[in-house]
Amino acid sequence: MADAFKNTPPKPEKLGAMTEENLKAAFAGESQASQKYLAFAAKADAEGYANVGRLFRAVAYAESMHARNHLSALGGIGGTADNLKAAWGGETFEIDEMYPAYAAVAKLQGNAEAGTSIRYALTAERDHQKIYDTTAKGVGAGKDLGDTAIRVCPICGHTVIGDAPDECPVCGTAGQFFTTF
Ligand SMILES: [Fe+2]
Repeated sequence: MADAFKNTPPKPEKLGAMTEENLKAAFAGESQASQKYLAFAAKADAEGYANVGRLFRAVAYAESMHARNHLSALGGIGGTADNLKAAWGGETFEIDEMYPAYAAVAKLQGNAEAGTSIRYALTAERDHQKIYDTTAKGVGAGKDLGDTAIRVCPICGHTVIGDAPDECPVCGTAGQFFTTF
């Protein structure tokens, strides 16, 4: 075990630790601000303030660029094959540990709205995990994903490659409302 006294001050390679923590916190904060402003923009549109919506979207874009710069400075953006592995790993953690634990707590505390929100996310992450897995196999062999449409339920995030179902199997939204990428 390391001797606490002999090991102070920190070794040179540890001197950037505080900056790394700061960048991680800033990445989380900017990402959240960006998402919050997009939700605010949709609300402003719905209330008839189209130009306020435009302002929120512009600032959300700026915040997302800050988040991207922080992630880049953290070394968190690799090549596409590595990025697919990282994305798969993030989804797997959410499916296996994070959301099941959150769902149990929401149920215990009787928060039905949180329970639904968590169930939507957990179910969609399973779609993403499978899609990332097959996509990574192709990219590992230097092949891009095919140009088939990718469709996402605008309510629960259920994600399919190809035609939308008549009705979302998770939340019941009609397939005609799915967003196409
Ligand atoms: Fe859905």
